[in-house]
Amino acid sequence: MSDARQRHGDVLLLGGIVLTPNGAERIDVACRDGCIVALGDLRGRWSAENEMDIAGLLVLPGVIDSQVHFREPGLTHKEDLESGTRGAVLGGVTSVFEMPNTHPLTLWQADLEAKLDAARDRAWCHYAFYIGGSGINAEQLQVLENLPGCAGVKVFMGSSFGDLLADDETVLRRILEHGRRRVAVHAEDEARLRERKALVETHGDVRQHPLWRDESSALMATERIVRLAAEVNRRLHILHVSTAEEMAFLARHKQRVSVEVTPHHLSLVAPECYERLGSLAQMNPPVRERRHQEALWKAIQDGVVDVLGSDHAPHTLEEKASAYPRSPSGMTGVQTLLPLMLDHFNAGRLSLARLVDLTSAGPARIFGLEGKGRIAVGFDADLSVVDLRARRTIRNAWIASRSGWTPYDGQAVTGWPIHTLVNGRIVVRDEHLSGAPRGQALRFLETQ
Ligand code: DOR
Repeated sequence: MSDARQRHGDVLLLGGIVLTPNGAERIDVACRDGCIVALGDLRGRWSAENEMDIAGLLVLPGVIDSQVHFREPGLTHKEDLESGTRGAVLGGVTSVFEMPNTHPLTLWQADLEAKLDAARDRAWCHYAFYIGGSGINAEQLQVLENLPGCAGVKVFMGSSFGDLLADDETVLRRILEHGRRRVAVHAEDEARLRERKALVETHGDVRQHPLWRDESSALMATERIVRLAAEVNRRLHILHVSTAEEMAFLARHKQRVSVEVTPHHLSLVAPECYERLGSLAQMNPPVRERRHQEALWKAIQDGVVDVLGSDHAPHTLEEKASAYPRSPSGMTGVQTLLPLMLDHFNAGRLSLARLVDLTSAGPARIFGLEGKGRIAVGFDADLSVVDLRARRTIRNAWIASRSGWTPYDGQAVTGWPIHTLVNGRIVVRDEHLSGAPRGQALRFLETQ
């Protein structure tokens, strides 16, 4: 059947359009032992256990979601590592960075190792875990941040969900002084949030969420942490930037600071989202009015934004039904990140090159991920195969999260993930889960 020179792989993707560093190319992709081993016209030259004709589909480097809350341990009625990563791959995401506000908090080596143990053989996609930066572990962070499977240090400057908080200037400085990697920051000013909470307590109206946690709360914290980082010469990553003012400020600090935006800040708009969705639209920092959303899109266009993070933060519908402001902030997002962004592409809001930069090349570049972020021979075979023209309606029933809902229930989108490959194996085939979990701990370049 095969000639003597024919090579054999695990998976062969034939006839798709592949987004490589050269641009969009109509080429085949061969994967073996978790890696991309050949690109080009491979028909007759390669064979594989799994040969898939993907004519008409587009192959993207596996999508990296650098902000998810998967709630394990301690809050597994909302989510766990299996369901969270299952949602990820069904949505075309192949790697995630998971956040430390679990119970217990992820503060020490033992907490990180417990998460790595829990993920082994259960995670459908690759994973790394953030260590929370706090007053009690600040001096150990330079060791903790370099542990295998650690995504780096995450700091909550304003309280959101859970007990992790570092708002004191001395503590923030101690955190920034101990370590070298980029520190990821939730930037909302705690003192201002406390002062302003009374504004929303009497009315119980979720439409006031952006009034409580206003633009200044975000800008003050962002300015403060950037100033402190400059003083101690540390790099930063500002998570879920939500305001026009922060974007204008961050555009002047790009040498030190990388920038994330979320699909919900790009897709939902106040006050309409609160009127339609109530507390299901409640997130921290809040979804704001249109002028902010326009500034976020402009910052994508200008290249100021480096990555997209879904900030997948599930709470049950029952929890979300508590009266505002007792209703917890957070919504699911890991599974809808790529469908929403493909829909934005189809609406002309960003190019495919920019989409790849934000969803894979960008996170690989700023976090120093080994073997990720591009479709190239020798790189890891994590691939998101999408149909740009497929029209689907996002439904709660499709959502794998234990919380079982999405704010986009009922929304039609154009562009949809069809197959997902993790570690050179097909884990989603024709939109359905296939095979076994293949996720591994992500590896980071030592120089980070
Ligand atoms: O809305 C949010 N929910 N923002 C955060 O930063 C935390 C998250 C959560 O863990 O629920």
